[in-house]
Amino acid sequence: MQESIIETKDLTKLYGNQRSVDNLNIHVQKGKIYGLLGRNGAGKTTTMRMLLDLLTPTSGHAYLWGKDIRLHKKDILPRVGSLIESPGFYSNLTGSENLEIFATLRKINDKIVIKNAMEFVGLPYHDKKLFSQYSMGMKQRLAIALSIMHSPDLLILDEPTNGLDPIGIAEVRTFIRNLCDKREKTILISSHILSEIEMLADDIGIIDQGKLLDEGSREELQKKRRNFIQLMVSNIDVAKEIIEKEYKTDRFEVVKKNEIRIYEEQLSIPELNKTLVLNNIKVERIYVDEESLEDYFIRVTGGTGIA
Ligand SMILES: Nc1ncnc2c1ncn2[C@@H]1O[C@H](COP(=O)(O)OP(=O)(O)OP(=O)(O)O)[C@@H](O)[C@H]1O
Ligand SMILES: [Mg+2]
Repeated sequence: MQESIIETKDLTKLYGNQRSVDNLNIHVQKGKIYGLLGRNGAGKTTTMRMLLDLLTPTSGHAYLWGKDIRLHKKDILPRVGSLIESPGFYSNLTGSENLEIFATLRKINDKIVIKNAMEFVGLPYHDKKLFSQYSMGMKQRLAIALSIMHSPDLLILDEPTNGLDPIGIAEVRTFIRNLCDKREKTILISSHILSEIEMLADDIGIIDQGKLLDEGSREELQKKRRNFIQLMVSNIDVAKEIIEKEYKTDRFEVVKKNEIRIYEEQLSIPELNKTLVLNNIKVERIYVDEESLEDYFIRVTGGTGIA
């Protein structure tokens, strides 16, 4: 039996009539990276704020280590590191001076934790540079350093790669992976960038309009992706008719102007090709592939894609 570090029970937040988070039941397992994937406005930040008791649910509960966060905030929060909003850093102080202030507030006396946290995110310790002179990426790294400084068991990171360039994103991904693998942290991370979640998360939750549409390990979601045969043909309308008539299926769709995707992987490609050619349809290209996570995401959420 896996141990859930975070579990929500019908967690709901209404703003007026809008269900920003709608009966959400997520399960974040110990020692795993859980990726909460959703478009802008899906309800990711609202969910995370409720997990940290920064926001009161309209109904439902959020349990961390099996305890309701609203009733056990004092025990739970010291074990959690979070990055939700950008922390209020002082622009006229250096990075390490800023962390020192937070360390004092959290009653951390040992300066080594600041050095370790900064080194972990690749920022120089005791650099002269003021926070106001930091680049966007450095500011984001400092915020992550702050979230891990007190050695929390659980990290809740809301879009931690926001504002980073591709190299920065790859670096952050590496150290988040290391936090999980080498330091045994449990990590909940949100993103609207599909490739990021696909590369990083062990478990994935897909959220849309406040609802959890799917949840499972990366492998489980992998299995739900359908295989298909894709054809580029000269006359798409006639090709559709022939496929429908000859193979008695409606499991196909037009995906580009002259490409058709058939979700009947058992069909024989040479046979399909022959049938179309005999009906005077030129087949320019034919191949077997599998839905991408993006295709799957569009299918479960409906509507348009995601970055
Ligand atoms: N304080 C608020 N008052 C009214 N509506 C709100 C408030 N906070 C959030 N919402 C609405 O709730 C919905 C979910 O917002 P939320 O910020 O949780 O989405 P998100 O998934 O974090 O989006 P993004 O990727 O843009 O950060 C949105 O429609 C948003 O406009
Ligand atoms: Mg958000």
